[in-house]
Amino acid sequence: MKVSIAGAGFYGSTLALRVAEAGYADEVVLTDIVEGKPQGLALDLMQSRPLAGFETRVTGTNGYDETAGSDICVITAGLPRKPGMSRMDLLETNARIVADVTRRLVDASPGMVLIVVSNPLDEMTALAAAASELPKGRVMGQAGLLDSARFRHFVAERLGVATSEVEAITLGSHGETMVPVPSLATVGGRPLADLLDAAAIEDVVQRTRDGGAEIVALLRTGSAYFAPAAAAETMVRAVARDTHEVQPVSAWVDGPFGIEGVFVGVPARIGRAGVEEVVELDLAAGELAALRTAAAAVRGKQDEAVGLLA
Ligand code: NAI
Ligand code: 2OP
Repeated sequence: MKVSIAGAGFYGSTLALRVAEAGYADEVVLTDIVEGKPQGLALDLMQSRPLAGFETRVTGTNGYDETAGSDICVITAGLPRKPGMSRMDLLETNARIVADVTRRLVDASPGMVLIVVSNPLDEMTALAAAASELPKGRVMGQAGLLDSARFRHFVAERLGVATSEVEAITLGSHGETMVPVPSLATVGGRPLADLLDAAAIEDVVQRTRDGGAEIVALLRTGSAYFAPAAAAETMVRAVARDTHEVQPVSAWVDGPFGIEGVFVGVPARIGRAGVEEVVELDLAAGELAALRTAAAAVRGKQDEAVGLLA
């Protein structure tokens, strides 16, 4: 099992650490345009092996030859947000980077499953799918697992329970039209609505939507990467281990939920082939409407992003 990560910044290097420590990959390759950075990080990670107890080989490079034959590639290359910026402000700059990186990765690893992380997420996923010319099911974006983890964290904090007791899912876009789904949220098996009133639930939902911006404002430079890297590793693991588990990811949707022809956050069954199916959960009417609104909102921007390839 070979996993390549393009972009050795905070997200990429933390993801390399998480994948290497998880132990299912034989090799992790980190590639970045900054000379010495991926090589230095790879050496540091390799030297942690005797202490951290893993044998995964980590290689750093400024090229793509070393990524050849990867089973899974993750694109984290691109600029992160600064305070006051929306993810959408990154569109043009990151589109150039993601298109270039995608083509190089797919040339070296035509059989890969591609996971996109760079922002704006749903647009960069659509752009990478177009640039790669891979079957759409082999391309997906990471956002829903992170947003769902934030939702679960805020619910757990509010109720003073372990996060493992909280099940919750977040769909839609990784942006303004994010759709946390309180109707399916449970705590210790009980519906969330039995434990929190509507105002408290709306509070948690809004804090989840603002979860990334809250951290950007605190850090002042750069954005979150510990929880984001844990989310991407969860997707990498589902592909590597062919688990067929259902995860919220940005996937190609053409029919389910009455949504057509767009990459947007939906529950999807993930395995060695990538997205095996989009799973149509029963949503409350307002949640379904919000998901369709999210799809419509990102479709226009995705067309804009893909248009930049011409
Ligand atoms: P960072 O600035 O620490 O790292 C970005 C890396 O990309 C840098 O090392 C840079 O040299 C590299 N890079 C730039 N152009 C490149 C190219 N053409 N080829 C290869 N590497 C290149 O940023 P960070 O924190 O790692 O974030 C990376 C991306 O992930 C950002 O776009 C950020 O917005 C996004 N992100 C997405 C999340 C999600 O849930 N989807 C969550 C958190 C971040
Ligand atoms: C996040 O949600 C900035 O997309 C990034 O943390």
